[in-house]
Amino acid sequence: MPTTQRKPYHNKNPLPPLNNIKKKFLEGSFPLDFADFMRQALYHPQYGYYHQNKPIIGNLGDFITAPEISPLFSQCLGNAIISYTQQKKSSLKEFCLLELGAGNGTMAFDLLYHWNQMGKRPKKYQILELSAPLRENQKKKLQQLPDEILATVEWIDQLPPKVDKRIIIANEVVDALPCSIGSTLYLDNQWWWSARKVDYQQQQFLWIDEQPKPSLPEEIDESFCQHKRIIEIPQHLSAWLSALRQTMDNGLMLLIDYADYDTALKHSHPNGTLRCYHQHSVHTNPLINIGNQDITYHLNIDLLASQLKKANWCLDSVQTQAHFLLNNGIQDINMETLKDQQRWQLANQIQQLTSPSGMGERYKLLMVSC
Ligand SMILES: C[S@@+](CC[C@H](N)C(=O)[O-])C[C@H]1O[C@@H](n2cnc3c(N)ncnc32)[C@H](O)[C@@H]1O
Repeated sequence: MPTTQRKPYHNKNPLPPLNNIKKKFLEGSFPLDFADFMRQALYHPQYGYYHQNKPIIGNLGDFITAPEISPLFSQCLGNAIISYTQQKKSSLKEFCLLELGAGNGTMAFDLLYHWNQMGKRPKKYQILELSAPLRENQKKKLQQLPDEILATVEWIDQLPPKVDKRIIIANEVVDALPCSIGSTLYLDNQWWWSARKVDYQQQQFLWIDEQPKPSLPEEIDESFCQHKRIIEIPQHLSAWLSALRQTMDNGLMLLIDYADYDTALKHSHPNGTLRCYHQHSVHTNPLINIGNQDITYHLNIDLLASQLKKANWCLDSVQTQAHFLLNNGIQDINMETLKDQQRWQLANQIQQLTSPSGMGERYKLLMVSC
């Protein structure tokens, strides 16, 4: 019979005094499901990482995202959205845009600016953002837009009511949803699941692997299993996708994330894909720097696909970021009119966004429609 395993996190440094977020955790009961730990660590309204008044995204923050690397990223996304509306024999002004988790507001700014230059604008541009400081950054950034465009922008606190035509965009948001973690085990001729939780003992947070159970979480089946494989399962994913589906009758959802298919992840990341970002360095321990580092994981495309189907979405395509950007005009800028330094900067940005060893292959763009 499998036994419970305890794996303390060995921290050689003496413990600092308990910070506020730790005290907050201690008001709860242990062991905590990792999704609950991650939710508090990232989104606690006072102490969570995304609620700190410090730079989070960008060179001065902890990590950088594609829209922050270059406006070319959002321009290509803008071109793809215009092509979609044309395929539907519609125009952009018939669609309400909804951006989830808009970060510093850079993608919203660049999209609206680009469309304005093309003489186009959406019916509305709504932003749903959980982080109060990031919402402030977004407001400051978007105030630089002409008044008539700014008038189309609206910040909302919950998902909006259903409209006929909507386009949802979310860059690096699904991988920020709190996830449960566990391992799949092959014992006594069947698959077992052992949830990996967070405990607190002798003033330390530590992992605790629960007693295995002879049934799998509903999000995965045997095809996801491999003995001792650790896998992340975004919590309430299907409910979240259903709620998004309820906001439109017709439309498109564009999800961009660090993502791969299950077979590849099983092979490349048997110990799971959890990653933490702090001052542009990456490590795998979410139980330190609590409230002071980002926690993320790779999106499992097969797991997402099954939940999309359940929520009545149709996954139309999965493209690498490089393929998507090259297909939507990233190389169409006329470099000849640019000065040497600008040309060099743009070439460098294109390289970062599209190179296979950089973001080009690892990030995927999922087109989802209804
Ligand atoms: C990794 S950041 C990406 C920010 C931005 N999209 C970018 O590319 O720079 C994740 C963002 O998602 C937001 N977020 C996380 N969960 C969310 C949810 N359920 N709904 C809306 N925003 C969410 C965070 O507050 C943050 O703005």
